[in-house]
Amino acid sequence: MSQCQQYDVVIIGAGAAGLHCAWQAAARGLQVLVIDHAKQAGKKILISGGGRCNFTNMYASPENYLSANPHFCKSALSRYTQWDFIALVEKHGIAYHEKTLGQLFCDNSAKDIVRMLLDECDQYGAKVKLRTEIQDVSHDGEVFNINTEHGAFVAPKLVVACGGLSMPKLGATPFGYQLAEQFGHRILPVRAGLVPFTLHDETKQAFGELSGLSLDVVASNERASFKEAMLFTHRGLSGPSMLQLSSYWHPGETFSVDLLPGHDAMQELQQLRQQKPKQSLHTALQSWFPKRFAQLFADQQQWPERKLADCSNALLAEVAQQLHHWQVKPNGTEGYRTAEVTLGGVDTDELSSKTMQSKLQPGLFFIGEVVDVTGWLGGYNFQWAWASAHACAESL
Ligand code: FDA
Repeated sequence: MSQCQQYDVVIIGAGAAGLHCAWQAAARGLQVLVIDHAKQAGKKILISGGGRCNFTNMYASPENYLSANPHFCKSALSRYTQWDFIALVEKHGIAYHEKTLGQLFCDNSAKDIVRMLLDECDQYGAKVKLRTEIQDVSHDGEVFNINTEHGAFVAPKLVVACGGLSMPKLGATPFGYQLAEQFGHRILPVRAGLVPFTLHDETKQAFGELSGLSLDVVASNERASFKEAMLFTHRGLSGPSMLQLSSYWHPGETFSVDLLPGHDAMQELQQLRQQKPKQSLHTALQSWFPKRFAQLFADQQQWPERKLADCSNALLAEVAQQLHHWQVKPNGTEGYRTAEVTLGGVDTDELSSKTMQSKLQPGLFFIGEVVDVTGWLGGYNFQWAWASAHACAESL
């Protein structure tokens, strides 16, 4: 029978937030233990950004986050900015580059980021215990008791950094939410975010032929608008613009796609009608789009295959309207299987925005994705993990 081991802080979850919190707490002289059931630390970091980890965004600011309380993230983000994390990356000699829109990626591999966090943990003596299932957690009025398959641990401070529900095959579980509920916390409804849309069978089959094709679009609904690429897939629509909008979309809703941002389709079609009256409407569309998209889209819309000269202003206006305001009604999303994040989570009303500490149970902290703060695509979610971890570590 193993003895009960005592620490100043136990952190559940050796992901982005947990590891970043661990080394900073240890650097302050605390005895820190991180427990994770996975066999490897930072699994999501390793697969992030296509294996190169988009570790932060140069333009990260509170406007890039969704939360029932949009003010909650401000304090942590302002006290640990993207520049603080960039300084850490540079201290470790990790080469990086901006890909687009302020998104910073490792030049070599996401492994560099995990190694950096584990090196910091080593340097300050924070212990990371992997392959350890947690059986139960309780608080006896003074300390937390964490019972695991490999023995019991005791600490006056417990940090929950278990992440969200996305990608269960990487070890995601609802454990963080369950623990929050155990201590009386409210969980705001969770759903998959930054996730591809799926289409109804008829549209899916038609557009499935375009799988792999990408267009620069503006995707919008009444809540948000994103000017980025849209990718056709066998299941529906993906690419950055779709992933971004998915976080602002609710089942059953329709959204609008401008397939020709920056153009005035009506004016350009009228000009073409004058300049090339014998050109067909379908061919005219190929001046903007790849042939296979132009043909399929025109067929879908049942636009007549006729010369431009024979196209009335009303028809051109309808074409222009569809090109600038294509209405898409997905039948759903691909769900947690492929989602990058989980929206919703531990209600921020019951947490301190300065320390991430529970207002209901002293000594209990929630950081990273388990909290109801979700970033856009582009390095914003890691920046929240780093910033919330720092706010917590400073106050332990
Ligand atoms: P994270 O998920 O990193 O860590 C949680 C840890 O808790 C895991 O190690 C897990 O094993 C552990 N755990 C869970 N349940 C447990 C239990 N019951 N017992 C013990 N341990 C348990 N973001 C970004 O900013 N840039 C990017 O490039 C990407 N790319 C990306 C790609 C893909 C495919 C995904 C799925 C996600 C991204 N993200 C991203 C999002 C980013 O990975 C995510 O927001 C952070 O990893 C969240 O950090 P956390 O530490 O909160 O959770």
